[in-house]
Amino acid sequence: MSDKKTGILLLSHGSRLDDGEEVIKAYKEMYAEEFPDMPVEYGFMEIRKPGIPETINKLTSENDLDKIVVVPVFVAHGLHTKRDIPELLGIESDFDEEAVSDHHHHHHDHGHDHGHGHGHHHHHHHDHDDETFEFDGEIVLTDPLGIDTRLYEIIKDRVSDSL
Ligand code: NI
Repeated sequence: MSDKKTGILLLSHGSRLDDGEEVIKAYKEMYAEEFPDMPVEYGFMEIRKPGIPETINKLTSENDLDKIVVVPVFVAHGLHTKRDIPELLGIESDFDEEAVSDHHHHHHDHGHDHGHGHGHHHHHHHDHDDETFEFDGEIVLTDPLGIDTRLYEIIKDRVSDSL
């Protein structure tokens, strides 16, 4: 029997503001408290440190892992979860670049700026240091949070708190 463990990477988008780190760090601490035997770290796909390679290197240097489960703590799938994050993790994706560029042909030059104004998607590797990671185990990227009545309850709370 292998004693190797599964590591968890909670992945946030990354922002210059601190709010996102406070949130993802809090979830990481909740997870670590509930599952003390499960190595868990948080990281950011861009803009903020630690990035994906740094986080994976931290997990693998401190633990003997044969698998890493990456949870994108995003509400919905988008170009980041379908294309950019798999690319950064070096894993396969079913993302079809042609499908996007065909439907948005006249926007192609700006097609990777998805509205939060940082226009970074052609140069992830310049946004971050050139740190890389080596991991010969399995990396599983889960779905984002998605459609769930537990999130719907929060939406209702936000509204009712403001009425
Ligand atoms: Ni982005």
